[in-house]
Amino acid sequence: MRSNTRIIHSTAFAVDAANVIVEIGHAAIRERGVFRFGLSGGNTPRGVYRELAAMRHDLDWAQVLITFGDERCVPPDHADSNYKMACESFLHALPIPSQNIHRLRGELDPAAAAEEYENQLARMAMIAGEPRFVHDLLLLGLGNDGHTASLFPGTEALREGDRGVVANHVPQLSADRLTFTYPLINASRHVMFLVEGAGKLPILREIWRGGSPHPAERVHPEHGQLTWLLGF
Ligand code: 6PG
Repeated sequence: MRSNTRIIHSTAFAVDAANVIVEIGHAAIRERGVFRFGLSGGNTPRGVYRELAAMRHDLDWAQVLITFGDERCVPPDHADSNYKMACESFLHALPIPSQNIHRLRGELDPAAAAEEYENQLARMAMIAGEPRFVHDLLLLGLGNDGHTASLFPGTEALREGDRGVVANHVPQLSADRLTFTYPLINASRHVMFLVEGAGKLPILREIWRGGSPHPAERVHPEHGQLTWLLGF
């Protein structure tokens, strides 16, 4: 296990996750005046997002900038939308300026939506004087097949070495997705996997042992920290 990686076994998953998020958020705002926070989709983060909304903490939410690590190719009001889930779980409950919430427009042609987002991140990176957009914290989930974001086994996006956001056809789902790529993910200051089900332990062990084909294994922040927060 690399030196920049830690594993936390939590018995209060949502509270512990929210505390890590807020702690990183405070430090980011203190040091750079903004907290660039990338959200994960799926089901696991829902309880964490609700905890953020419930506790609010004393984070200066007006200085929080939200991105989405992946999105389904559906409109923002669709039941499968990660954006919809995040809005209902916490974004609509907190005073985050709407212009700070950068939605992946799943309703567009996937390639066009990915390019639009890539350009948005590039503009923000240029203003910050960075070669690539840097998240202060990016949340990720882990699928039962070892995928993360929408980097699914055997899909084209696994090979992307330059762009930070791409459209990715996922034959396993017979669907297109929008997803962050390894170059963008691994540029983060901190990546935190949220894994709640003990059923994922076999996959986790294969990833931690190394040499697995699982896409999640290739997440390694080049100059940042990696946290595995486990709810078991
Ligand atoms: C998505 C997610 C995806 C998710 C994993 C785990 O859009 O579905 O980004 O990568 O994090 O599939 O999903 P659960 O948290 O629901 O197990």
